[in-house]
Amino acid sequence: MKNNEQHVATEIVIFGALGDLSRRKLLPALYQLDLAGLLHEDSHVVAAARNDVTSDEFVELVRESLSTFVKEGLDESVLERFVARLVYQKMDFKDVTSFEGLATTLDKGSDTRVFYFSTSPSIYGDICDGLNHAKLNTPDVRVVMEKPIGHCLESSKIINDQVSRYFEENQIYRIDHYLGKETVLNLLVLRFANSLFTNNWDRNHIDHVQITVAESVGIEGRWGFYDEAGQMRDMVQNHLLQILSLLAMEPPADLGADSIRDEKLKVLKALLPIDRHNVKEKTVRGQYTEGFLNGGPVPGYLQEEGANKDSNTETFVAIKAEIDNWRWTGVPFYLRTGKRMPAKHSEIVVHFKEQPHNIFKESYDDLPANKLTIRLQPDEGVELEVMNKIPGIASQLHIHENKLDLSFSETYEDMRVVDAYERLMLEVINGNQSWFVRRDEVEAAWVWADSIIDAWQSSNDRPKPYAAGSWGPVSSISLIARDDRQWVE
Ligand code: BG6
Repeated sequence: MKNNEQHVATEIVIFGALGDLSRRKLLPALYQLDLAGLLHEDSHVVAAARNDVTSDEFVELVRESLSTFVKEGLDESVLERFVARLVYQKMDFKDVTSFEGLATTLDKGSDTRVFYFSTSPSIYGDICDGLNHAKLNTPDVRVVMEKPIGHCLESSKIINDQVSRYFEENQIYRIDHYLGKETVLNLLVLRFANSLFTNNWDRNHIDHVQITVAESVGIEGRWGFYDEAGQMRDMVQNHLLQILSLLAMEPPADLGADSIRDEKLKVLKALLPIDRHNVKEKTVRGQYTEGFLNGGPVPGYLQEEGANKDSNTETFVAIKAEIDNWRWTGVPFYLRTGKRMPAKHSEIVVHFKEQPHNIFKESYDDLPANKLTIRLQPDEGVELEVMNKIPGIASQLHIHENKLDLSFSETYEDMRVVDAYERLMLEVINGNQSWFVRRDEVEAAWVWADSIIDAWQSSNDRPKPYAAGSWGPVSSISLIARDDRQWVE
């Protein structure tokens, strides 16, 4: 096993440092990197926000955030070292002169500089103008952009154009945090480090694939934002399509950023379009109504705080996606994702084809096909369902389905599952773009998603209701049952 970790003195500027993402994810991720010894001693974090707080007040806020969001508890000496790296910079992102102050604050001695845009995408352009005004758009800079990158293809182009006016594509890191998840990265290893799967990964051996990303949370006080987006833009256009493209892509020549992204892009471009003509047959959109979760009642989407009672926004999506290429023609990829489902539970299930002939009819009429389950979260792991003889002396061979189960928590007992943001932040520092999304991928994903959203809008159908705490509308069961298949629960 080789370890090529390297790290350099980095200056990280977080725009929107007092926002939710920064407090929940970015600052805890940087603290964890510091704890693991992966932040160079000369690395600093400049926290930029509009709020009028003193440096001491800011440090206090960071301490509070870390003690809330670092689940394992804090190491006091690391905490002191970490807060000493922080500088608070009050700024108005829409005023270019405000960036002159930032330029003065920045340490001229760092090896590399990261600008993390953790604000609403509508002001990415203003931030870029400000950076340009203060001559901070130098070639050594890396820019990190959070999703959503746009609301549709056109708006994503506007945002990408604003940023690429001042930065080259090889300086731009578009985050899809699912690409930082342990189990999502493991897809590459499973597929390309095991000949067992490499050689059986196609339409000749696979019957269909199911990808489920279920969440038990609702919209958590983000009604305004979420209602504009819906589950299609919030989860499918990015996270689910990234999983799908890693799962379906051809072997990349190497792990280079463009090698991987070229292959993912080909999958996105080969997705069969879904439009007005087939949207009813290929998709289901749902919206949760009141129900029960974790033993208690929960409100419906339209009863959430701040809700517009007429909203047509979907909180659940199921899609039969098809990839029109040599490897996958005829193999459906059923995607399903929703809020307020019974549990936080994400997995990929690959259903292999049945055996062409059954010599065990005495014991089993229909031999079940092998099934590979990749549990993304929680309880990360890989499980392969195989047929096995039940031990015993009887001359008749009694056989049974069994599971080869590789649970990460049991196999790697002392290993902490690293949060996606920790890994991705480190990759930015190390300058590796492999796990970030290229502009053409974002655009190809929008082309496919836009066509579905447009078809929904023109149909004027309301999303199908489903009770909070259930697995989605009944029609999502019909979507897959029409093909004589069923969702794995
Ligand atoms: C975010 C979405 O990108 O991903 C949220 O905006 C969603 O709505 C979240 O809850 C899910 O991420 P995770 O890592 O908890 O599965």
